[in-house]
Amino acid sequence: MSTPSALIVVLAAGKGTRMKSSLPKVLHKVAGRSMLGHVLDLATRCDAAKVAVVVGPDMAKVEAEAAAVFLGAEIATQVNQRGTGDAVLAARSAIDAHEGDVIVLYADTPLIRPSTIARICAKLNEGANVAVLGFRPKDPTGYGRLLTDASGALLAIREDKDASPAERQVDLCNSGVIAFRVPRLTQLLDRIGNSNAKGEYYLTDAVEIARADGLQTAVVECDEDEVLGVNARSQLAEAEAIWQQRARLAFMDSGVTMIAPDTVWLSFDTSIANDVTIEPNVFFGPGVTVESGAEIKANCHFEGAVIGRDARIGPFARLRPGAKLASEVHVGNFVEVKNVAMGQGSKANHLAYLGDGSVGAKANIGAGTIFCNYDGFNKSKTEIGEGAFIGSNSSLVAPIKIGAGAYIGSGSVITKDVGAGALALERSAQEERPGWAEKFRTMMARRKGKS
Ligand code: UD1
Ligand code: MG
Repeated sequence: MSTPSALIVVLAAGKGTRMKSSLPKVLHKVAGRSMLGHVLDLATRCDAAKVAVVVGPDMAKVEAEAAAVFLGAEIATQVNQRGTGDAVLAARSAIDAHEGDVIVLYADTPLIRPSTIARICAKLNEGANVAVLGFRPKDPTGYGRLLTDASGALLAIREDKDASPAERQVDLCNSGVIAFRVPRLTQLLDRIGNSNAKGEYYLTDAVEIARADGLQTAVVECDEDEVLGVNARSQLAEAEAIWQQRARLAFMDSGVTMIAPDTVWLSFDTSIANDVTIEPNVFFGPGVTVESGAEIKANCHFEGAVIGRDARIGPFARLRPGAKLASEVHVGNFVEVKNVAMGQGSKANHLAYLGDGSVGAKANIGAGTIFCNYDGFNKSKTEIGEGAFIGSNSSLVAPIKIGAGAYIGSGSVITKDVGAGALALERSAQEERPGWAEKFRTMMARRKGKS
């Protein structure tokens, strides 16, 4: 409950030309979620009272993403990109309608922690009217510098292009995050001018204006990693790496074993319980839950799947959306499961495709089994009863039901339902010709001798 009364204004109007993409920059993903999604999730986790997202013209996809992640997010359009000050004022009606703190975040800065926002809000509670999030980057070039007095009080923010050589020596930089506890904030922001190197309305000028009005200003510092801004794909990859490293550490701290954590890739919503062991090279797409005690062997790919308690998955298993594996299920190498509920203790240990349907508890699916779920037009279900045994290399042509405890003979193409406890097999009878091999060899050797 760090900012229950805050309005969070998210700046997302930038075109992001350096991404060289037809997709707006803030929709590019980190850990399977758009950068805008991460920032709006931060707003949610900070209990923001309201969110306004400032977008450029023709950004319907950005608006849709905002609405999907933060219910009731207000959209404000900045028609021309005239600077960050102008961008915040695009949300004028939301700011004027709001009584309480206003926090500005950038949609291309996806790694800020809720605890950092809480520290900024604490500064406001201690009496600051304007609190700025600063950091000390290895290379400050390009960033606005936070100019402080001898006591450390924030006097102004100077943009790199406008800074004197002495000011450029300052290593404390502006992250872009600014929080305001200023009544009638838009009146203050309206006083920002554009006589500077870029001819833009700099939000950062609000600090000097506030000081001139006798208001209190403050700085909160955080790590450079947290305020990494993404402008190009290389920085997107950097943000991804930082996010992944954080998530891996958090899971290990909560009791998950990762043999080679750097090779495990997680999504924003991955849920893994304690005492799960994960071997190298495992990818978690969105929507995956792993329950306690499960063992994930090397080289698996998961998305939209539930892995039950004490299950044993992989190596080389692929679980796709709708794979719901109960406790103690075994899914082995080169097995793909999609939209199938597998009952407790059921097994598909090698080389199979299970698509659309259900597998009863303790059923055994032999190597090479295929659920033939698609006829080019419709998807149909394969339902396998408890304890059934599907012999190797069986094709189960859906829609089809295999009764509890039934046996399917290896190599069968099963097109009709099979009753509980029955044996079904579909293959031609085996023929045996005693002594045939010897006769064949003799004949072939004679022929070779002639030629
Ligand atoms: C800004 C800060 C700088 C800080 C840096 C941190 C200002 C004037 N400068 O500079 O002090 O060190 O961020 O990365 O604020 N945007 C709009 N509309 C606009 C302009 C920008 O929505 O008209 C959005 C962008 O999409 C982006 C954010 O505001 O999300 C920052 O804009 P950007 O142009 O990247 O600012 P910087 O020059 O990097
Ligand atoms: Mg920038």
